[in-house]
This record gives sequence, structure tokens and C-alpha cells, in this order.
Amino acid sequence: MSHAVTAPSDVVSRLEKAGQAHVLSHWDRLKAADRAALLEQVAGIDWDSLPELIRTYVTGKPAVEISPEDIEPAPYFPKDHTIPGRGWNKSKYEVMGEDLLRQGKVAAFTVAGGQGTRLGFDGPKGAYPGGGITGKPLFACLADWIVAAQKRYGRTIPWYVMTSPINHAATVEFFKQNDYCGLNPRDIMFFSQGVMPSFDMASGRVLMNAPHEIATNPDGHGGSLRALWNSGAINDMRARGVEHISYVQIDNPLARVIDPVFIGLHAFAPDSSGEMSSKMVAKTDPGEKVGVFAKAQGKVRVLEYSDLPKHLAEARNADHTLKFNAGSIAIHMIGVEFVARLNSDGRGGSGAGASDPEGRAGFRLPFHRAEKKVPFFDLSSGQPVNPAKPNAVKLETFVFDAVPMCRSSIVYETDRIDEFAPIKNAEGTDSPETCRRIQTERAARWLERVGVKVPRDERGECQCTIEISPVTAMGAEDLDTARLPKRIEPGQSVVL
Ligand code: UTP
Repeated sequence: MSHAVTAPSDVVSRLEKAGQAHVLSHWDRLKAADRAALLEQVAGIDWDSLPELIRTYVTGKPAVEISPEDIEPAPYFPKDHTIPGRGWNKSKYEVMGEDLLRQGKVAAFTVAGGQGTRLGFDGPKGAYPGGGITGKPLFACLADWIVAAQKRYGRTIPWYVMTSPINHAATVEFFKQNDYCGLNPRDIMFFSQGVMPSFDMASGRVLMNAPHEIATNPDGHGGSLRALWNSGAINDMRARGVEHISYVQIDNPLARVIDPVFIGLHAFAPDSSGEMSSKMVAKTDPGEKVGVFAKAQGKVRVLEYSDLPKHLAEARNADHTLKFNAGSIAIHMIGVEFVARLNSDGRGGSGAGASDPEGRAGFRLPFHRAEKKVPFFDLSSGQPVNPAKPNAVKLETFVFDAVPMCRSSIVYETDRIDEFAPIKNAEGTDSPETCRRIQTERAARWLERVGVKVPRDERGECQCTIEISPVTAMGAEDLDTARLPKRIEPGQSVVL
């Protein structure tokens, strides 16, 4: 039993000043351990900045600062590098990227701290099946690229995996149980991102999970730029001689975790600062809900789908292609020293919000609000509530908001089928089913390029399922025709 019947007065006054005194309303009835846990959680939150954040993002909605006249399409390196007038020397950059890999200057980085609420899977999303036939977990799908690239370039490619407090222990356990997906445990580093309190949408009050626990959510994939620094990952990279970070998200098993062409462009293209570069795919139609790369106020940036005015989203070039067609697929190259600079000079950060586990505030990207259903403990009725409709605002930061903080930033176009099949939902769009189809289509194209007959229906859809491990091939050029079937039969499942 604790002797302190009342909460420490400095904590009470901090919370009162922030309009959040309800956090301690069950203090009298809490056990000593629960009081200690609550105090620790309270200490990790920057309460002074909350009233302003709540006014701006929770009870209010932030205005978009960029006027449509200032927005133009972002230039990009087209995937067809032979287009007259826009051609570029792909093999030169590929060789340059390969050199960096051979020198051990590249690390892989995966953000896997999300809650995966849409998928509704009980466990870290990386443990979810990603292989179209094998059901190989998403973590293993990405790890296989690293295994293959390490073999090809003869150097270790360290892998940094960002978790969140919610899934950190389960993620580490997953790797232990799965033999580190074939990688050396010394070359994988796990670290947790920061969290933000979740807010009641109507009142802006911080929600409680339990009488002694504030409801929190991970602070978005943008939190990775801060967590890389606070965790010591950046220093670990420096010690290993790593200069560039290849950023991919856990839910896209098709991502080329290591892509020498992209690495070379990021590090050496004349218009790249080597700070942060991005991959894009052409949008399917004006209404597709992806962020687009645009240039505004002289800077490349990603405009969220909802922030691009309709007339711009629908604007077409003379050849009828979309003017703003550069859809963001959340694949980036990031300079190690760029992350260090952001964190050391605090540029672009409000310094607001919950801090990292050591209590440092520091650099922070702008927040975005998301209206979500968040179960909570109702302090007045003393009952847990599972809301039927969105009741809460979560504040998150997005990694692409760092792009305009670069001195200059390049965009590289890639093929959707070749690199983008995220698993976000259990069914429908961006689901395991669509992912399996895209994996098959990519594999089919590779196989057809080397002469294998793949069954297709009259619309061109594959009549079979194919999964190719990156350890077998990272592209059609790696396929060994002597070991391939001459043809695949309709209905067949082929794992290579
Ligand atoms: P999403 O935006 O799809 O979010 O994350 P999510 O949490 O996985 O899924 P929903 O929205 O709850 O259904 C895209 C990527 O960013 C990572 C995710 O793990 C995924 O790789 N992410 C997202 C983080 O690492 N941290 C976050 O706070 C949010």
C-alpha cells in the first residue's frame, strides 16, 4: 500500500493546467503499483503543449497551408529511362548503388509499429502471412530480400525494425521463435517508437484505458525519424559505416527492400541532396486515395489525397496522362546524417507531445488527425466502453512530411506490379487476396520474359498462383531457365 493518499501536487497542477485533471480521478482507489505506473506514464507526456495541440487538431481541424496556385507536379525519374528528352542512365546509377552496398554503406529499415486495426490481426503485422502460397510471414518476406542482397553484394546489410510499446515484446519473440528469419541476430536491431495520448473527439480530454492507464497510440510512421535517433540506431549505423537507410513498411511484401538503382539515384543524382528520396507509382485514376508528390513553395512534398484540390487531381497533360500522377508508395531512401540533423537542430519539429521512453521531447513532424474507434474506460460509470462509431482522435506524424525538410529531394517512378501490394484489410482492396494476385502477376511477367508459358484468361488474368522468393530471384534476370518449368498449367500453384 502506498502512503500517499493524494497525488503529488506538482502532477496535479500540471494536469489541471492542461485541462486533464480527470486522469487522476480514480487515484484514491488505485493500488501502489498502479499509481506508480500512472505517474510514470504521466511523466512521459508533454502536458504543457497539449491544450494548443487539442485546439488545433482534436476539437479543431487544421487548415491546409498551401494554396492551389502554388502546387505543381513534382519532377521524377520515369521508369522508362529511355523516354526521349527525359532519359537517364539507369545502369550507371545501378552500378553506383551496388558499390555502396559492397562497401556496407546501406542499412534496411522497416517500420512495424502500427496497430493494424483494419486487418484485425492479433499480433504484430509482421507475423501475418504475406507469401501468396507459402503463407510466409511478412517479416520473413522482407528478410528474404536482405538475405539475397547480402549474398549478392558480399556485405552485411543491418536491419533496423521499429516496433511500438504495444507490439515490441511480441515482435522480438517472433524473431526468436523464427530463427531471426535466416539473419544474424547481431545485425537486427529492434526499437520502439513513441506514443501519443488518444483524445475524446468531442471534449479533447485524454481517454483512459483503465483507471490507472492513459489510452495511447503509436505516434505514426513519422515517429520513426525520432525513434531512430533516440534509440541509438543512428549511432549504431555510424559505427558500422552505414550512410543510407532503405525505408520500407511491413505491410508490403513486394517492396524491393534493397534496390541498387534507387540507392544510386538517392546518393548520386545531381538534383538529390542524399537526404531523403522517394518512390512513386502512376496513379490508376484521379480518385485513387494515395498521397501525391507535388512541388509547392519550391519543395518536393507529398500532398495527402484529401489536400489535393479536385480540379488538380483531375487535371490532365496533353497526352491525357494525369498531371498529378505520382502516387506515394511509402518507400524511401534516407540519409543517416539527415536524420541526425533533424534531431539535433530540431528543425521542423514542434517539440510537442509525448516523449520517448527516456523522457526527451525533441524533434517532431507536424501532426495529422485521424478519427478512430478507441475502446476506453468511462471514468464516471466505471465501465469499459467499446464504441460503435469513431469517438476519438489519434494524432500521428507521417514520415513523408520530412521530404520538404530536405535541401532537395528526388522521386523515382517504379512499376506498381513490381513493387506495391500492401496488405491493409482482411478483404477487398489491399487485402491478402489482392496481394496474392499481384505477387502472381509479377512472377508471371518475370517467367514470361524468360520464355515460360503462363496460363491467362481472355482478360489476361493469370489462371494459376505463383510465388517467387527473392532468394531465388530479385528480378527476371536472376531466373535460371534450366531449373524452371517450360509451362505452368491452369489452376497450378508454383513456388520458386
Ligand atoms: P498504416 O498507416 O497502414 O497503419 O501503416 P497500421 O497501423 O499498420 O494499420 P491501421 O491503419 O491501424 O489499419 C503503414 C506502415 O507504417 C507503420 C505500420 O506498421 C505499417 O508498416 N506504422 C504506422 C508504424 O510503424 N507506426 C505507426 O505509428 C503507424
